[in-house]
Amino acid sequence: MKITTADRFYVTTPIYYVNGIPHIGHAYTTILADVLTRYHRLFGKPAYFLTGTDEHGLKIQQAADTAGMGPKAYCDSMVGNFMELWERLGIRYDRFIRTTDDDHIAYVQEILQRLWEAGEIYSSPYQGWYCIPDERFWTEKDLVEGNCPECGRPVIELEEENYFFKMGSYREWLVEHIEANPDFIFPVTRKNEVLGFLRQGLADLCISRPKSRLEWGIPLPFDSKYVTYVWFDALLNYVSAVAETAGPGGEENWWPADLHLIGKDIVTTHCVYWPTMLKAADLPLPKRIAAHGWWLVEEEKMSKSRGNVVRPLDLAQQYGVDAFRYFLMKDMTLGQDRSFSEVDLVRRYNSDLANDLGNALSRVTKMVQRYRGGLLNPPDGLDEAPEAEMKEVATRVKESVPDAIGALEVSRAVDEVMELVRATNRYLESREPWQLAKDEQKGNLLDATLYTAAESLRLAGVLLSPVMPAKMTELLAQLGITLEEAGGDYESLTAWGVLAAGGSVPGGDSLFPRAELPEDLQD
Ligand code: ME8
Ligand code: MG
Repeated sequence: MKITTADRFYVTTPIYYVNGIPHIGHAYTTILADVLTRYHRLFGKPAYFLTGTDEHGLKIQQAADTAGMGPKAYCDSMVGNFMELWERLGIRYDRFIRTTDDDHIAYVQEILQRLWEAGEIYSSPYQGWYCIPDERFWTEKDLVEGNCPECGRPVIELEEENYFFKMGSYREWLVEHIEANPDFIFPVTRKNEVLGFLRQGLADLCISRPKSRLEWGIPLPFDSKYVTYVWFDALLNYVSAVAETAGPGGEENWWPADLHLIGKDIVTTHCVYWPTMLKAADLPLPKRIAAHGWWLVEEEKMSKSRGNVVRPLDLAQQYGVDAFRYFLMKDMTLGQDRSFSEVDLVRRYNSDLANDLGNALSRVTKMVQRYRGGLLNPPDGLDEAPEAEMKEVATRVKESVPDAIGALEVSRAVDEVMELVRATNRYLESREPWQLAKDEQKGNLLDATLYTAAESLRLAGVLLSPVMPAKMTELLAQLGITLEEAGGDYESLTAWGVLAAGGSVPGGDSLFPRAELPEDLQD
């Protein structure tokens, strides 16, 4: 069977500038990509997850100079910060690309040569301004009070002969593509912003820097006195990274991406530069570009150049990796900004994980231990309204999770599962198994209650496993099952009645012990 793009999932994160330590913003995008990848695999789709680092350009060269190192040695010394953090955060990518990788460099040069031969690139004098932190060219009219219109920081003036890509000639085509493909840019506010930007006209893109000014880049294959503009180099990573792969359905490789995840800071480069580059090179376009909002600290964007960063590892160590992942996924609505607050994290942890999920699990496993010697008895044909209702909730939830994930509403997907958990707690309150246990006549009802609650939690564990892979493995183990044992495809994994009647429920330590707010945050 030939797999079409609807049946596979190739997702990318931005490749992060290597000159800094990753903060919550970077962790958020990368965890989101990881969670989406794991969901698609759970739904039975082949998936490929790409992340990496952006290592060329003026900003990196300057950082290397400051560190008193050669640029490559500097990048080598920094890249581990990303790889180690992703490892610690439970992120499982398929490739970590560095733009200094040989195959990437060769690919960028191949595309440049192709565009040069096709007449898509020409040489001309350039006069304008450059923002080093954003690595972006600007014209006089773009500047806001003489500063970068994106980030408000100072720009430097440039005047030199350069090479240009005929980006402007693709303006109308791009407007049409965006209008004909309403899902191409998500959310719609960003799509409208891009259309607004395109309405003002589209200049050609300067894609070179003379080596006399900047040496740290990929040499132009047709003029060795120049290196490639860092964004032209970086964007191509999404194709170069998979150029040598075999596609999941026997296609040549994984390209085109099904989803580029980015922050809203880099919408123009991804939604304007990138599609026009692909079009000129005669390559297919990504299916979707989704721009999320910013994590803010006191109303300001968290950023390494502002220095107001929150370290993901500190939080993951304090509250647990999976709780941290859960918080980021639950509390951010894709597309909107969100203020980061450790107080919110602790509240979210205690209410959802310690109270709702952790308590439900320990109640159920403890009762199976206490009343049934740790064995789940077969519920004998009993199917009254409360049990039927629980099954209904379970069916609704397992159907709505793929919908929510397809719509990029991870927070809603999580909510749906937590609704199942809360329904389980309500169910236990109404059945009062602790009362049933006192009456031998009610043995069958007690068995049915314990089984129904355990099975609901098993399903919740399966459906939350992409967000909290380690903790949900633990949850399933406490119920006496593994994800693998629950069986192959999504349907069988989420079918009702997977827990074996008569199976043992070993239980274990509290999954999410209550968290205390650090003293300096208590008011
Ligand atoms: O732009 N909130 O790299 P970069 C949410 N190298 N997300 C944030 C964030 C915040 N406060 N701060 C950063 C670059 N991010 C280029 C990309 S891609 C071909 C080249 C995340 O290190 C978000 O995903 O500045 C944002 O788009 C990305 O980090 C920018 O990382
Ligand atoms: Mg940035």
